[in-house]
Amino acid sequence: MGNKKTKKITDEMGNLIKQLNEHNYRYHVLDSPAIPDEEYDRLFRKLKELEEAHGHVMTDSPTLRVGAPPLDKFDKVIHRKPMLSLDNAFSYDELRDFDIRIKRLLKSDSEIMYTVEPKYDGLAVEISYENGVLVRASTRGDGNTGEDVTLNVKTIMSVPLALPDDKRPPRWIDIRGEIFMLIADFEELNRRRNELGEALFANPRNASAGSIRQLDSSITASRKLNISFYGAGHVEGLPVGTHLELMEWLRSNRFTTPDIKAAKGIEEVIRVVGSIEKERESLPFEIDGAVVKVNDIAIQNILGEKTREPRWAIAYKFAAHQGITRINDIIASVGRIGTITPIAILEPVKIGGVTVSRSTLHNWDELDRKDIRIGDKVVVERAGDVIPHVIEVLTDERTGKERKFKVPKACPVCGSHVEQEEGEVAFRCVGLNCPAQVREKIRHFSSRAAMDIEGMGEKNVELLSERGLIRSFSDIYILDKEALSGLPRFADRSADNLIKAIEKSKRTTLARFLFALGIRHVGEFGSKLLARNFRELKDLYNVDIEPLVSIKQLGEKTAAAVSGFFAEKRNIEALNSLVAMGIKISNPDFRDNEDEAGTLSGLTFVVTGSMPEPRNRIEKLIEEHGGHASSSVSGRTDYVVAGENPGSKLNKARELGIAVISYDELVKMVEEDQGTLF
Ligand code: IVH
Repeated sequence: MGNKKTKKITDEMGNLIKQLNEHNYRYHVLDSPAIPDEEYDRLFRKLKELEEAHGHVMTDSPTLRVGAPPLDKFDKVIHRKPMLSLDNAFSYDELRDFDIRIKRLLKSDSEIMYTVEPKYDGLAVEISYENGVLVRASTRGDGNTGEDVTLNVKTIMSVPLALPDDKRPPRWIDIRGEIFMLIADFEELNRRRNELGEALFANPRNASAGSIRQLDSSITASRKLNISFYGAGHVEGLPVGTHLELMEWLRSNRFTTPDIKAAKGIEEVIRVVGSIEKERESLPFEIDGAVVKVNDIAIQNILGEKTREPRWAIAYKFAAHQGITRINDIIASVGRIGTITPIAILEPVKIGGVTVSRSTLHNWDELDRKDIRIGDKVVVERAGDVIPHVIEVLTDERTGKERKFKVPKACPVCGSHVEQEEGEVAFRCVGLNCPAQVREKIRHFSSRAAMDIEGMGEKNVELLSERGLIRSFSDIYILDKEALSGLPRFADRSADNLIKAIEKSKRTTLARFLFALGIRHVGEFGSKLLARNFRELKDLYNVDIEPLVSIKQLGEKTAAAVSGFFAEKRNIEALNSLVAMGIKISNPDFRDNEDEAGTLSGLTFVVTGSMPEPRNRIEKLIEEHGGHASSSVSGRTDYVVAGENPGSKLNKARELGIAVISYDELVKMVEEDQGTLF
């Protein structure tokens, strides 16, 4: 009877998972959703409830995609086949040389079948599927050893957690692809980071790398990452004869793949490469070249590889997008926390087919460092569609008429004083009600990673604040249909939708809410940390700096900013009025530190010799219970956990008089703890 019931629940979960994964695929891979978001959310919640009630989560459940508790470090992963890099060609003649080399090696004159595909500018990962289930994902690292980023990769919606069950999966397959970020998503991310005073990512590639190498996978989950799969490493049980067949197999198993073309002979390859380069401008992501591969895998194997690159593939690299123009003016723009940023107004110039007329100069230090002046001739780079930036000043071209631009003394928007805080690069407008700041604050408050109010984008916020309808966060929650009626951008339906979105945003989490407030130096990670350590919002009111600085990973600057924010009476009043508007804040991130300290807290262990469990699992166990696992024995070591054939580490422990325990004794130590064993 119990079994029957269990089976029913498992079937129901399986059924929901199948539906959700199908919708995920349609939405994130095919870009053609079949149901509204609300329906997806409803199915997702239903599955989550079942999982919670049942205490069981299936391997391919989409609920696994939201992130997991943070790690202390990444485990190392050795690639079963090294992840090679590619030889480069910078001209069509170098592509012709590549073709000649291949024909010579094959001792053949007949035309080679090649494939040509875009070269994504991101970072390489390898994802392993064992019997159709995603078991591990790792970065390329040095090609031989990478880092285990499984939890992070699972948060990428287009990555299948399992292969479709109507096909026979290969016993094992390592699939390789490039993780990248859409240019628009990269710019939005940087815009938010700039407002928060956080370091900016130089380009979408760095943003992808920074997002995938997060110890806290819930941060990765909040970044919009994509992946395109272009090859395989170690494979068992999948007979494919050509690269095109492999790509076809990947597509039919729901992986996203590059747009790949077959080309017979190198002259056709060159034509395809040319058409990819033309398309480059209109792509929503960055590519830095085209990859040419020999299609036939048997021929690939004959050609083999050099130390670091295969002989059967080459990357044709596109030129970087740069142009020379003049700075006609420099203006100051005002951000959310009043930061005044210099912006160069350029003599319009076409770079890679796009007219560029503005360039951010980031901050005043950069302006000084590069000695950028009004009237200067400069080299401007535009990587893909990324906001262009000034690479260098052509000082030789100066005429003597160039003018330096000084930080304005008054805010260009509200006229208040502009001040520089001690030890800070940034200058700020001190005007409390500066309209530019208020607008930016509200935009941030409503953004997706914060209160997630759809419909409160740049244009609408500008309109609503111009009309005097929103001057503070709580004004958002007073908006009603009447207030919106008659506004140019709000036809009946969009007014309804906005009101609905505002209502929906009232249920939020402490981490989101804290992030939304836009406290200086408190980004998504900082707000998560705070939520983990403070049960509710009120616990932060008038918080001293000590409990904040004692939070591991929370920087001093952040601690000071948080304490300063909650010491301000006006801020507390604003928070109270938000709560009075009906905002309900839950805190699923909170973790009780006392429980967490663990029985091994403060102790350092070295594991040596053969063990009944893999060493990294034992080290993880130690760390889960608050201990620290180290690889070398020193005066700071408290225990050496020794198995058979322990070697020199045991001798050293004996020399230093360090306690030596067995694996069983370690297990006994942690069994006293609340935590789970493995
Ligand atoms: S094939 C043995 N195909 O470029 C062949 N690589 O410079 C290995 N990349 O590490 C690579 N798009 O990260 C291949 N369509 C594509 C690619 C691609 C981007 C990256 C990949 C690789 C690097 C080599």
